[in-house]
Amino acid sequence: MNKLFVLGSINMDFLFTIDKLPSKGETIPGKAFSTLPGGKGANQAVAAAKQGAMTYMIGNVGDDTIGEELIEKLQSYHVKTDFIKQIKETPSGVACILLEGNDNRIITNAGANHIHEISDIEKILNDNATEKDILLMQLEIPLDIVEKAIKIAKAKGMQIVLNAAPMKELDEAILKNIDLLILNESETKALTNIDVDDTNIDEAFKIIDTLGPKTCIITLGENGSYYKEEDKIIYTKVYMSDIVDTTGAGDAFIGIFLASNMLNLNTETALKRATAGASMTIETMGAQNAIPTKIMIDAFLDREEN
Ligand code: RIB
Repeated sequence: MNKLFVLGSINMDFLFTIDKLPSKGETIPGKAFSTLPGGKGANQAVAAAKQGAMTYMIGNVGDDTIGEELIEKLQSYHVKTDFIKQIKETPSGVACILLEGNDNRIITNAGANHIHEISDIEKILNDNATEKDILLMQLEIPLDIVEKAIKIAKAKGMQIVLNAAPMKELDEAILKNIDLLILNESETKALTNIDVDDTNIDEAFKIIDTLGPKTCIITLGENGSYYKEEDKIIYTKVYMSDIVDTTGAGDAFIGIFLASNMLNLNTETALKRATAGASMTIETMGAQNAIPTKIMIDAFLDREEN
């Protein structure tokens, strides 16, 4: 079976449900609080593993109890954790997530996510990856590591997928080597300067084409997603869902889409399953725990389509 290597962040999420954001100098009581595993990299790895894809997480946690718990959780979702390092005298990555109505606001502290040795990543990929495998990254780890990892993966002939979240300034050396770039609305705006919607999606794709990525997906939240490959654009509409917490929905989409591709489903089906999975993730508090398994998505689509 082909392998998915996810090089990215692993966080513990501290989720506060609030009525309204506090003003300057104000203290407010939260309505609810949960501590749940997250991190864009780890969430995407969990989403893929829950579909049955062979998924390896490459990342770092601190040498604290949070780090232990984050690794155990990933293992419970069948993500392979052999390439996760516990960094001494360093805290694990954390995220403070404020849930206000249907919106979330996230503040992260990178901790161990910012400590990477490119020689470790090179050894992992050289010893374990082949040209049939995928390297998936986000931007919650240092940009120079992303750039160097792309070079290593490229030399091995791997497929390179980048979810440019949170957006950073990306130069040509990165963009020209990306096989699949995945962006949301604000990331598309940062890259193309277009406030993207269904009327100007072509324009955004044209600009992205000139930057290098071979294929691109733009997700527009409740307005669905657009997939572009050569001259083909596929639109996928979202399924109705009762919003509890949108954290991790984008990550669910990415992991499920890639895993469905790896399991030889066609692009339309992979997009539909990814969209269903994201809609289902929104209905439960948290990220990794809320992402559905393959069987859950099968059942959801059966209900939706019959
Ligand atoms: O994409 C959602 C994730 O972003 C959260 O789980 C949080 O940890 C931040 O990394």
